[in-house]
Amino acid sequence: MNGLLLLCLLLLFGGQRSSACPHLCSCHGTQVNCSSRSLTSSSLPTSFPTETTELGLHNNLLTSLPNGLLDDLTSLRSVSLHGNPWVCDCGVLYLRAWLLRQPATLTSHLGVNCNSPPGLRGRLVVYLTEEELLDSCHYWYCDLALASQVCLFVFVAVQAALLVALIVFLRRFERLSKEARRTTEESFTTGEGLRENEYSPLKDSRF
Ligand SMILES: *[C@@H]1O[C@H](CO)[C@@H](O)[C@H](O)[C@H]1NC(C)=O
Repeated sequence: MNGLLLLCLLLLFGGQRSSACPHLCSCHGTQVNCSSRSLTSSSLPTSFPTETTELGLHNNLLTSLPNGLLDDLTSLRSVSLHGNPWVCDCGVLYLRAWLLRQPATLTSHLGVNCNSPPGLRGRLVVYLTEEELLDSCHYWYCDLALASQVCLFVFVAVQAALLVALIVFLRRFERLSKEARRTTEESFTTGEGLRENEYSPLKDSRF
């Protein structure tokens, strides 16, 4: 019973979420207007109504589009994306791929151009080559791999230093113990000799 209620609530809210007008935007029928609202990539709605036919995202502060954001919008007829400071690095790959998939009539590629990095400023996103974008990619796992390699190198160096120190210490210990053995042997033999010398006058005095 409770489970059924929960399911109904989920369906209700799930349904509402996909068809309701996104927060910060205004809607007229299937036209969704999110333009000129100072939207950033993080304040951008995470989804739009699936039946959206016109989507206005121009004149905002968008630097990239989240992967898959527009993939479910099968009824789209036009999207405006100009007037945003797009950052042309790995993060723009989804936008570029999406633009490339669209028929030329759906969206105007004009105005969708890079604001940064300086080397790509002003370039149209859709005409960037994959090499140009991949060049600027910094994958966090590459940094992690590099950091772990550096750590590994440091650990190996420390291990090697400790090993060398251990060998030096053992050599010195060996030399010291040899010396100690030699000195005890020497003192033993000289001690015996001394004792003999000590006894001899006694022997002499007795006889
Ligand atoms: C979209 O919203 C902006 C900001 O409220 C407004 O200036 C603009 O006229 C709207 N555009 C349309 C087509 O409704």
